[in-house]
Amino acid sequence: MSVRVSIFGLGYVGCVSAACFAKEGHEVVGVDVNVSKVDMVNDGVATIVEHGIGELVADMRQQGRLRATVDVGAAVRDTDVSLVCVGTPSKANGALELGYIERVCEQIGEAIRDKATRHTVIIRSTVLPGTTRDVVIPALERASGRVAGRDFGIGMNPEFLREGTSIHDFYAPPFTVVGTEDAATADVVRALYATIDAPFHAVETGVAEMLKYSCNCFHGLKVAFANEIGNVAKALGVDSHEVMRLFSLDTKLNISAAYLEALASPSVGRACRRTCVGSPIGPRRSTSTRRCCRPHSRAMRSRSSARSTSWPRRGGHEWACLGWRSRREPTTCASRPWSR
Ligand SMILES: NC(=O)c1ccc[n+]([C@@H]2O[C@H](COP(=O)([O-])OP(=O)(O)OC[C@H]3O[C@@H](n4cnc5c(N)ncnc54)[C@H](O)[C@@H]3O)[C@@H](O)[C@H]2O)c1
Repeated sequence: MSVRVSIFGLGYVGCVSAACFAKEGHEVVGVDVNVSKVDMVNDGVATIVEHGIGELVADMRQQGRLRATVDVGAAVRDTDVSLVCVGTPSKANGALELGYIERVCEQIGEAIRDKATRHTVIIRSTVLPGTTRDVVIPALERASGRVAGRDFGIGMNPEFLREGTSIHDFYAPPFTVVGTEDAATADVVRALYATIDAPFHAVETGVAEMLKYSCNCFHGLKVAFANEIGNVAKALGVDSHEVMRLFSLDTKLNISAAYLEALASPSVGRACRRTCVGSPIGPRRSTSTRRCCRPHSRAMRSRSSARSTSWPRRGGHEWACLGWRSRREPTTCASRPWSR
C-alpha cells in the first residue's frame, strides 16, 4: 500500500529516507527551511554526498514520486504521515538542542489544526527518553489544539543508518522499531516499511527512544574497547588485528547477547545487571553482599571450595564482584552454571 509521506529535514537522514521511501512506492514530499536543499531535490539532485543517493534522487524525481517544498501547510495537507528528521545537535554543555524539533512540531501542529483527516507524526530524529512526551506532544497539541493519540497519531521511529552506507542500511536494518501508545500509528509505520525485510517491533515510546541511545552507546563502547585492546596489544608487541579477528569469531560469548541477557529477561539474573567483572582486585566486604552471581575461574572456585563447602561465604568475597546481590533479591542467575 502506497503511503503519502512528508519528510521534515532534508539533511542526511531526511534525504536518504525521502529517496528510499519513494523507491519503495510511496509518494514523498520533502520539507526543509533551507530553500537551496528544496531546490536541489526538485532539480533531482541529492542534498548529501553518499554512494547511490544521487542516482536515486534523480530517478525518483523523474518518476514523479519525490518532490520538495518549504510550505509546511501544503506538505501536511497533501500527506497522511510526517516524519521528523531535523537535527538534534549537542549544546556546549552536552545537552540536546531540541529547538529545531520543537519548532517543526509547532509548524506541523498549526497545519494539523486546519486538517480534516487524521494525520500521524513520527519522530525519526535521535532524542532522549521522555522527549516525545515532554517536548514533541506538548508542541503539537499547543499548536493544533488537538489531543495526541486521539486526534492525531504520534510515534517514534529511530533511525539506525550509518553515514557512508546509509542506503544499504536503510534496506537492511537490524529491525524496524516504532514507539507508540496507539495501535493506529503502529499500523501506519508498518505500512511504510511493508517492503523492508526486517523484524518489526511496536513498543512503548520511551523504549524506542532509549533503544536508539543504547545502540549508539554500545557502538561507542565497542570502538573504545577495540582501540584500548589495540593500544595494549601494541605496547606488548602483540598483533592486535589477529586478536580482534579471533575475538570477533566468538559469536557465543563475545559477539552475542551473552552478559546482556540478564537485562533482557527480568525474571533471571537481576544481580547481573551490575556487571560482574570477577577480577581479583581485592576484598569486598558488605553485609548486603550475599552471593557472587557467577563463578570467576576454576582457580578461584577451588580456593573458595577449600575454605567453605557453601561457597561463597556470606559477606566474605575474596575478590571484588561488582555483580553483588542484595539479600532480598532472588537467587536465580542466568550466568550461574554451577553455584546455586
Ligand atoms: N546522520 C546520521 O548518520 C544519523 C543517523 C541516525 C540518526 N540521526 C539523527 O537524525 C537527526 C537528523 O540528523 P541529520 O544528520 O539528517 O541532520 P542534518 O543536520 O544533516 O539535517 C537536518 C535538516 O533539518 C532541516 N531543518 C531544521 N529545521 C527545520 C524545520 N523547522 N523544518 C524543516 N527542516 C528543518 C535543516 O535545514 C537540515 O537540512 C538527528 O537527530 C540525528 O542525531 C542521524
